[in-house]
Amino acid sequence: MSDNRLDPVLSYLKSHHQEHLEELQDFLAIPSISALSQHKPDVLRAAQWLKHRLNAAGFHHATIHETPGNPVVTASSDMKAGRPTVLVYGHYDVQPVDPLESWNHGPFEPTIEDDILYARGSSDDKGQVYMQLIAAEAWVKTGGLPVNLKFLFEGEEEIGSLHLGDYIRAHQHELSADVAVISDTPMYQDGYPAISYGLRGLASFEVTVRGPYQDLHSGGYGGTVMNPAHALAHLIDSLHDDRGRVSVDGFYDQVDPLSDPERDALSQLPFDPETYCQSLKVPALFGEKGYTVNEQAWARPTLEVNGMWAGFTGEGQKTIIPASAHAKVTCRLVPHQDPTQVLDAIETHLKTHLPPGVQLQVERFHGAPASITPLDHPAIRAAGAAIEAVYHTKAAFIRMGGSIPVVVDFQEVLHIPTLLLGFALPDENFHAPNEHFHLANFYRGSETVATLWSQLGGLNG
Ligand code: BES
Ligand code: MN
Ligand code: MN
Repeated sequence: MSDNRLDPVLSYLKSHHQEHLEELQDFLAIPSISALSQHKPDVLRAAQWLKHRLNAAGFHHATIHETPGNPVVTASSDMKAGRPTVLVYGHYDVQPVDPLESWNHGPFEPTIEDDILYARGSSDDKGQVYMQLIAAEAWVKTGGLPVNLKFLFEGEEEIGSLHLGDYIRAHQHELSADVAVISDTPMYQDGYPAISYGLRGLASFEVTVRGPYQDLHSGGYGGTVMNPAHALAHLIDSLHDDRGRVSVDGFYDQVDPLSDPERDALSQLPFDPETYCQSLKVPALFGEKGYTVNEQAWARPTLEVNGMWAGFTGEGQKTIIPASAHAKVTCRLVPHQDPTQVLDAIETHLKTHLPPGVQLQVERFHGAPASITPLDHPAIRAAGAAIEAVYHTKAAFIRMGGSIPVVVDFQEVLHIPTLLLGFALPDENFHAPNEHFHLANFYRGSETVATLWSQLGGLNG
């Protein structure tokens, strides 16, 4: 049955496609890269853009809050008793754009081709933040929201949400809500929208192996000292066995095993390893034996080298023994794994396996535990109904391999679950060259969010 307050909202969205697209392109043109200090002014500009836009949408107390890092932007609707309060979170910062030469258009010159919008941040996450904004605005402009909304947008998600936890702890009362909603994940496949009920956590570190006091002539000294690059390669190799398991003692101790019903449910999702392989242009897959690809990517912990360097990497040849060798490593964690304990176990492993003649240094970065949302939460049911109403298909219930650190703070500080309702596609190049967002999902996603507010507000009975 159609709801006579929702109809004008959806019409409003449909009749503003052109304005919305142009405005989103303005937002995407701001290079709000949080990892690079020279872009700090751009990050601030994106925060200001959001604040002004929230004001224009009718959220009159939109505010920029300074933090020791990048600012948090908040706003809220009128608060009325007797209806649910939803905390909408998103991030306005984006990842760096290198390698720039692999982009077909400038990453901050948003371009539309074949109903696809190309730009850094188009799908992760500025495009989805903007979708949340216009869905709420459409309600405000057509008679008023059926739920209480609070917005929380941050500019440090892509660098680990370094200061958001403190902000949330200091503003618990202002942020109190019944549920958090985040649009910062992909759907399962094109045409197959999804509700994610789990994210992996993260533990990261940089390892440095030091040898001689400076680079040495490899003819003069080769054969007499341990080469730090060899020592590092040995260490990295020792971290996995040939069945794809992490060989660190204790790494799996706290891991929550997948239940049989959950494995059954995940195995019902359509999946073709051949297509997956081809889409990645790899000759074969390699992962932990005994698990399906979706299980490997969503529900099993991993350890991956993100970057490794040592010695001479320029053109031609230079015969040296490098003074040091380096690797950046991240682990994806699953529920119950504690980032600190995982890093302790890895550090012990590295010390034990360090070859003689070199020294080891491990620097730890900010981590985050994994999260799970109970599937029986009313907001999850409401989101399922909203997806069905707009996409005319049932939602997939999936987990995700990526991390959104704030979800754990919502759980532990605000004591609320998080509904992950994202409209990107898995191959829209998050963090990679030619990031894009399908406009069809941008439009239908904003309609789905608008429908969700009607469902949650009980308007559909
Ligand atoms: N939107 C992603 C998280 C994500 C990616 C969820 C893919 C599901 C599937 C988010 O912006 C992100 O990239 N998070 C980082 C967090 C890290 C920097 C602490 C990640 O997962 O690497
Ligand atoms: Mn994101
Ligand atoms: Mn990201």
